[in-house]
Amino acid sequence: MTKHSWQEKVGVDKSVEMVEFAKRTYGCSKINFKVLDIENTHDCSFYSYRFNKIFSFFCFHWVHNKVDSLLNMHLMLKSGGEILVNFILINPLVELYKCMDTEWHKYIEDIKQISQNTYSRDEMRDIFTKAGFRIINLESSVKKYTFPDFSSLLSAIKAVDVMYSILPQHLHDRYSKHVKDKICEKQMVQICPITGKIIKAYLPITVHAVKD
Ligand SMILES: C[S@@+](CC[C@H](N)C(=O)[O-])C[C@H]1O[C@@H](n2cnc3c(N)ncnc32)[C@H](O)[C@@H]1O
Repeated sequence: MTKHSWQEKVGVDKSVEMVEFAKRTYGCSKINFKVLDIENTHDCSFYSYRFNKIFSFFCFHWVHNKVDSLLNMHLMLKSGGEILVNFILINPLVELYKCMDTEWHKYIEDIKQISQNTYSRDEMRDIFTKAGFRIINLESSVKKYTFPDFSSLLSAIKAVDVMYSILPQHLHDRYSKHVKDKICEKQMVQICPITGKIIKAYLPITVHAVKD
């Protein structure tokens, strides 16, 4: 990589809070942090043909319209530019929302931020290709993450579950209990009977592709 290719670095997120946090924590003259919704073609077109590389880590599974987002990233790259996207093939929260009891459905419908579409590995390969990328490498394999106990798992879910920002406060505890019950009922995790540790399997995927 030449020195020239790193002259401009831009870190983006659609959340104003995240961008402000990044500026406070990592801000320096060499990195610009900007609010950008990767699904918004109008805003992305500001960066048309601008970048040599685009990296995205653990974000793409939250993106609602993956096809448009890939087209936008393709647009923002220079010819010969590369993309490296690492994400979870099946968003565990989408799995969870799909099996919730009816009383929670009206809130789930309000969650526009989260994609309800799930793609297989081959379908994912297809949408990258249709957006104009040539795939250099696509890797995915089942990984396992171990939580020390159930409450750590529930806290981790709470940190990313937008339901908590939609639900009235007085429903939070009941919702948490429902989440726990569903996880057990649908056997979404393994529970070690001796240690009580919780093992969650997940499917990360990494795609490295180029704009020819
Ligand atoms: C789990 S965080 C990952 C953040 C960071 N990449 C990291 O590795 O720490 C996922 C981020 O994706 C952002 N996000 C979701 N949809 C987005 C979109 N359409 N455009 C830009 N950012 C988005 C969320 O605001 C959230 O900050």
